[in-house]
Amino acid sequence: MIRLFENVDLSTRNSFHVSQRACRLVEFDKAEELPEIFARYRPKEWKVLSGGNNILFTKDYAGMLITPCNRDIVVVSEDDAALTVKVDAGVEWDDFVAWCVERGLWGAENLSLIPGKVGAAPVQNIGAYGAEAKDIVANVEMYFPESDNFATLAAEHCAFGYRDSVFKRTLKGRVIITAVEFRLSKQPHPNIGYGDVMRETEARGGVALRNIRDAVCAIRRSKLPDTAVTGNAGSFFKNPIVDMAVAERLKAQYPDMPIYAVDGGRMAKLAAGWLIDRSGMKGYSEGRVGVHERQALVLINHGGATGEEVMALARKVQARVREKFGIEIDTEVNIL
Ligand code: EPU
Repeated sequence: MIRLFENVDLSTRNSFHVSQRACRLVEFDKAEELPEIFARYRPKEWKVLSGGNNILFTKDYAGMLITPCNRDIVVVSEDDAALTVKVDAGVEWDDFVAWCVERGLWGAENLSLIPGKVGAAPVQNIGAYGAEAKDIVANVEMYFPESDNFATLAAEHCAFGYRDSVFKRTLKGRVIITAVEFRLSKQPHPNIGYGDVMRETEARGGVALRNIRDAVCAIRRSKLPDTAVTGNAGSFFKNPIVDMAVAERLKAQYPDMPIYAVDGGRMAKLAAGWLIDRSGMKGYSEGRVGVHERQALVLINHGGATGEEVMALARKVQARVREKFGIEIDTEVNIL
């Protein structure tokens, strides 16, 4: 079914809970309805609004937002070692992870409790605790309004990188992701080397899928604010990737600064949370917005804030990190 809403209040449709409006918003229950939506409403301007978990509205939107509400999970193929499953874009990401864990399928468990829907997962290649969506994505299905075509892109053509993909680059604003196919392993593939995951897994009885999922959920709940209670969009900033020489110079000055080698050691990923924390901004509040007190990467809406207020704080945080460390931190959240 196709549902059209006009002059829509978006406050319940974005995890920052900011109350901008969209001129039109349309929800669809089946991917096959997309050609009809474009033929019927002929939007001059459109964007996908999925779960609204990685977006900050700073103004009203004059175009049409499109929200996938298709929710099927269908097994595509299966052998002794692995299973491929097609998951509709509108399925809650964590419902999909729970589905895998209940069936003994490995690969998604470290990504437990990431807020958002399946269709958004390949866009920023969601990741946590040493795993990324790209590790299990096989294919991405999409609709191209400009040519009225459906297409399937294999994972190797998605240009996945750290919080990056072709959907943030050449395909940005051109496609609507309708479903994602994931390949999951039936053999155990524990990946518990990151941070506290091993300790929390052992504390729950050892390496088993259910224990890893429970450990990840517990760690996330202890550090990250619940979007149902406090407006936020998870990590507001990306971890910056800089030349190894820059990282080493900083490390000499700040020996406890975390650095992670990337690109064969030519580059280093720094922890934006640590940089913000050491700039003295962790827990900082200004009016209705603030920097989360347990995780400096997260900006929060204490209640009633506008997107512009959040952006003003974000610019202040970026300036502080630039002044103290000479490092630029970019936003991970989409600003609209
Ligand atoms: N740190 C601090 N102070 C802080 C936050 C972090 O000193 O306020 C330090 C930590 O002690 C650690 C380092 O910075 O040494 C890295 O912190 P953490 O392991 O918590 O991970 P992160 O780099 O801050 C990333 C993702 C998170 C994901 C975690 C766990 C990004 C931008 N964020 O955070 O993703 O959950 O790793 O894997 O890559 C999200 O994308 O919304 C998100 C929450």
